[in-house]
Amino acid sequence: MPWTLLLLSSVGMVWAITGCKPKNAGNALSGDAAERVYVAPGKYDEFYNFVSGGFSGQVSVYGLPSGRLFRIIPVFSVDPMDGYGYSEETKPMLNTSHGFIPWDDQHHLQISQTDGTTDGRWLFANANNTPRIARIDLKTFHTAEIMEIPNSAGNHSSPFITENTEYAVAGTRFSIPMDNVNGDVPINTYKKNFKGALTFIKIDPATGHMNIAFQLLMPGVDYDLSHAGKGPSHDWFFFSCYNSEEAHTLLEVNASQNDKDFIWAINWVKAAALIKDGKGQIVKTNYAHNIYDEDTHQATSAMEHQVTMLDVTKFPGIVYAIPCPKSPHGVDVDPTGEYIVGDGKLAAVIPVFSFSKMINAINNKEFAGSFQGIPVLKYNSVLYGEVQKPGLGPLHTEFDGKGNAYTSFFISSEIVKWSLKDLKVLDRIPTYYSPGHLMIPGGDSKKPWGKYLVAYNKITKDRYLPTGPELCQSAQLIDISGDKMKLLLDFPTVGEPHYAQAMPAGIIMKNSVKYYDINKNKSPYKMVGGTGKVIRSGNRVDAYLVQIRSHFAPDNIEGIHLGDTVYLHVTNLEQDWDIPHGFGVKGANTAELLIMPGETLTLQWVPDFAGIVPFYCTDFCSALHQEMQGYIRVSPKGSNVPISFSMGNNTDTSAVVGIEETK
Ligand code: CUA
Repeated sequence: MPWTLLLLSSVGMVWAITGCKPKNAGNALSGDAAERVYVAPGKYDEFYNFVSGGFSGQVSVYGLPSGRLFRIIPVFSVDPMDGYGYSEETKPMLNTSHGFIPWDDQHHLQISQTDGTTDGRWLFANANNTPRIARIDLKTFHTAEIMEIPNSAGNHSSPFITENTEYAVAGTRFSIPMDNVNGDVPINTYKKNFKGALTFIKIDPATGHMNIAFQLLMPGVDYDLSHAGKGPSHDWFFFSCYNSEEAHTLLEVNASQNDKDFIWAINWVKAAALIKDGKGQIVKTNYAHNIYDEDTHQATSAMEHQVTMLDVTKFPGIVYAIPCPKSPHGVDVDPTGEYIVGDGKLAAVIPVFSFSKMINAINNKEFAGSFQGIPVLKYNSVLYGEVQKPGLGPLHTEFDGKGNAYTSFFISSEIVKWSLKDLKVLDRIPTYYSPGHLMIPGGDSKKPWGKYLVAYNKITKDRYLPTGPELCQSAQLIDISGDKMKLLLDFPTVGEPHYAQAMPAGIIMKNSVKYYDINKNKSPYKMVGGTGKVIRSGNRVDAYLVQIRSHFAPDNIEGIHLGDTVYLHVTNLEQDWDIPHGFGVKGANTAELLIMPGETLTLQWVPDFAGIVPFYCTDFCSALHQEMQGYIRVSPKGSNVPISFSMGNNTDTSAVVGIEETK
């Protein structure tokens, strides 16, 4: 049975969507591959590659072409390795309207852009489970801000940005009743009660601070992915959707009925102007807005209580529906801003739409009808052309800036290169196996660095040493500098990568912070010298410790009583690159702290037994790292042992009090 028939028949569906192994697996490696990816010891990689962690909730940082993993940036999940989400300073970052949430599912990344070019200032990341967008500061690689998205469930088509980082967007995957109405309704009233919200978040051009500017109230379908227009299409944002059938159960069948779903073309400039004219409606809701301040080293969480919403059906000219076969996933705009590529997961072709044709079709009212009050443009009026027989299960497309597009195919396990000009397939290369996203550095911007492509594969099966039932996912580095794609490298990844971003290392390297200036540390809990201090107020004890190679001050603390809550504020006084100190306390039910030079972090600790509790430095900082340790004495509740603390007083009083003298 031919592939296409197999795919479209219901018998073949289950088998086909689970993916398959390409022919010639393992034979595709380029002859000079080792040389091309070899980065000699002490040399730097050419590109930073930021890769989403999927269900790890984090972001990982790799080098290209080596595939070396440099760091995991904690974003939406707690990280016991450095205390993110465990320290008092960072706990507020994970606050939401549902309270503290220690986990999320991180799918897409986007580096900030200036004039459509990746600029390396900030990295935006979405949370797919409890809807949120994070902003990571690429000077420090710290999560600097997290904004919760109200009226949403499953923030998938996010955090894509406009070409000058004016806005980041968030689109709800699940349509749901809005937050300001009674959501206690039968699920089978979906068509009446379930709506979709698309959120536009304004980005402050100087600070990067985010604020929800407005939400668009949209039909109740499943919003999947998005990308902004650029150049001529600058004013527009494109969102794909599935489930135009508006099914609420067994979506694998019920949301695969229609030949075409939609790409929504949204004129965000017009929408923003209407909001400015007061055409929006204030809608009550609750959402958290969390900001980390790099000067005070403190995060704060504020609860916001309203958003401005625009019902798009009441304002013609804001939204148009472009029919797109079939259950589209990726929607990708080429570097010129003229071509909009829809990747229908179940489609046999790749439709390429023309922005200029779309504008003509809108002006000439070439409508095929309407969907829930939104005009549907005629497919052929907007279509530039279709890529024929490209492969099976197209998901995402990126561009090399030389007129070529590259699409990932989940089912046929391959990357296919095709020409934007004549839509002819130029080359194909197998991947191992079943790629989801693919990424070219700058490949969704105006200026791609079209040298490499990375395929992020969902399935590895037999590619690596087995590790029990749970296997890693993988990335595959492909050379796209010539006519033919060449496989160079295959490396395991952390979590489950979805989208990724990459850019040349230079700009980010140049701006990277090496350590915090202790004189600029504005933490209210900073301690700069002496033997520290310990202060009791009621049942709260604040202990201020300093760390410098290779001791703590103080390192002996007494007078803690059961029933106290102790806040251990630790300042690392080092002023040198790569000298963090760690901090671990026996029995503390949090995590270690990993404190960068010049930084202050706080561990909350509730002692649970009377006795002696050791603490120590967890990061190998000097030859005498192992000596970097101390003791805390915990006395029973109601004890009269007073607070005392010291460092360097090695007098032993056991003989004086006569403990050992028994004759
Ligand atoms: Cu400080 Cu080890």
